[in-house]
Amino acid sequence: MFILLRDAVAAMPWLILAMSHTTTAYCECGYSVNKTSDSNYAIYTDLMENDFLHTATDNMTEVGWAPQEYNMTAEQARGPYGKEFHVENIDTNPLKNNWDWAGGSTEGGEAGLRLWVRGDHSHGYVSGAEMATVRNDSFYGSFRVGMKLASTTGTCGAFFWFYNNSQEIDMEFLNRQFNESAGGMGAVNLVLQSPQSVKDGFDAANTSDFKLQALNFNPDDKFHEYRFDWSPERVAFYVDGKLVQEMTENVPTSAGKLFMNHWSNGDPLWSAGPPDTDTSIVVSYIKAYFNSSDTTRQKAYTSRCAKYDASKVCQIPDQTVPPDPSGADGNATAKTYFFTLDGGDHAPGQTTYKTTNSVKSSAMSLFGSVGASIAYLPLMIALLSSALML
Ligand SMILES: *[C@@H]1O[C@H](CO)[C@@H](O)[C@H](O)[C@H]1NC(C)=O
Ligand SMILES: *[C@@H]1O[C@H](CO)[C@@H](O)[C@H](O)[C@H]1NC(C)=O
Ligand SMILES: *[C@@H]1O[C@H](CO)[C@@H](O)[C@H](O)[C@H]1NC(C)=O
Ligand SMILES: *[C@@H]1O[C@H](CO)[C@@H](O)[C@H](O)[C@H]1NC(C)=O
Ligand SMILES: *[C@@H]1O[C@H](CO)[C@@H](O)[C@H](O)[C@H]1NC(C)=O
Ligand SMILES: *[C@@H]1O[C@H](CO)[C@@H](O)[C@H](O)[C@H]1NC(C)=O
Ligand SMILES: *[C@@H]1O[C@H](CO)[C@@H](O)[C@H](O)[C@H]1NC(C)=O
Ligand SMILES: *[C@@H]1O[C@H](CO)[C@@H](O)[C@H](O)[C@H]1NC(C)=O
Ligand SMILES: *[C@@H]1O[C@H](CO)[C@@H](O)[C@H](O)[C@H]1NC(C)=O
Repeated sequence: MFILLRDAVAAMPWLILAMSHTTTAYCECGYSVNKTSDSNYAIYTDLMENDFLHTATDNMTEVGWAPQEYNMTAEQARGPYGKEFHVENIDTNPLKNNWDWAGGSTEGGEAGLRLWVRGDHSHGYVSGAEMATVRNDSFYGSFRVGMKLASTTGTCGAFFWFYNNSQEIDMEFLNRQFNESAGGMGAVNLVLQSPQSVKDGFDAANTSDFKLQALNFNPDDKFHEYRFDWSPERVAFYVDGKLVQEMTENVPTSAGKLFMNHWSNGDPLWSAGPPDTDTSIVVSYIKAYFNSSDTTRQKAYTSRCAKYDASKVCQIPDQTVPPDPSGADGNATAKTYFFTLDGGDHAPGQTTYKTTNSVKSSAMSLFGSVGASIAYLPLMIALLSSALML
């Protein structure tokens, strides 16, 4: 594709002038949850968005995620069963039609990224799924996932950020807790791990940074958005755009990685189970807006936003309804906003990933390299001058 463009440009140098006029970039000065006119707002310089309704890949690393492969004995896993995490327990299952946001998936069932817990645990281990961002430089930010939890009881599904065992932000879903209260409502365990929880054997239950948050829906019923905003002062947890909890102690102070996992060790007090059939959580998207601890990324920001201009800060839309594809208007409600899929260039200098979505270019730039939109212009100019010299 790059070569084709280069050939085309070399053959038709006049094309450059036309193209450079239509090259419009937005958001050069970053992304903000609040409006820049609000009394409080925080700017995030970087983003990472995965549209799993339209992503097909055999290689998760290609889309920024490293599947984990490791074993823990029952003793290490602190349960009756050991845990093993395998790459093949993570698979993509996009919608059949690239232009739709609801409807049939390529492999049947709900479309999205699947993290499986396997039903065969006859060898004393429960096979599950875990993945971490390749990037390890997120340092404050707003982190969001659209997902539907597993309806077979006996697993733990988690969306979390991790630096080390005492600096960790967790949203953990135990499906044994779904259906527990009258009316079949759900719950989510919100945790900031701390030196105290490490001392208590990784049990945050007795610290102020543990909350069993009741939900007014069952998380295995529909897709919802779960989110945490991490600032130097606090971690705020949200469900479908609504603030549900804030924690101000043991707020992490290092850069780290975003994770997701789905597992069971049979511990009746936590994951329960294990289940006897394969069961998965389904992820429709992950969106992260954050600052980077990486000096290369910091320099890239100061070069694209040389002079701070509030009009070049883009507001991150709140997702205020469950992004669920079921129901008559599913195609509209499951369609959520992505800067990386928006027209023009709303993600200048950011990492963007290949998807099967035909609307979006299949551009992919690796972390640390300059985004395609910025790279094209100087290259074209260089090609133009060499073409003129010929
Ligand atoms: C955004 O505004 C809300 C409401 O005023 C405030 O509570 C919150 O702290 C602000 N967020 C940031 C990151 O400044
Ligand atoms: C993120 O980085 C930007 C640009 O350097 C800075 O203005 C902002 O204060 C940082 N935000 C936080 C929460 O540190
Ligand atoms: C997966 O993708 C990564 C990043 O693009 C690449 O480095 C790696 O070689 C790929 N692995 C396979 C098995 O193709
Ligand atoms: C994990 O255990 C399985 C058997 O349950 C074995 O096949 C595999 O090689 C082990 N992997 C590692 C990384 O030890
Ligand atoms: C779903 O919405 C998209 C636009 O967001 C549209 O292109 C597509 O045709 C719609 N599909 C159905 C089945 O309505
Ligand atoms: C992130 O990973 C890189 C490369 O593996 C390493 O050099 C760097 O120290 C890591 N950064 C953090 C904050 O852990
Ligand atoms: C919750 O109850 C519903 C309706 O009976 C059922 O379909 C679902 O499997 C249950 N979920 C769990 C995790 O037990
Ligand atoms: C986590 O990192 C912090 C800061 O480097 C350190 O003080 C703390 O002891 C570490 N915690 C664990 C459990 O290693
Ligand atoms: C938490 O507190 C309860 C009641 O004080 C106590 O029984 C339990 O052992 C404590 N748990 C941990 C992990 O310290």
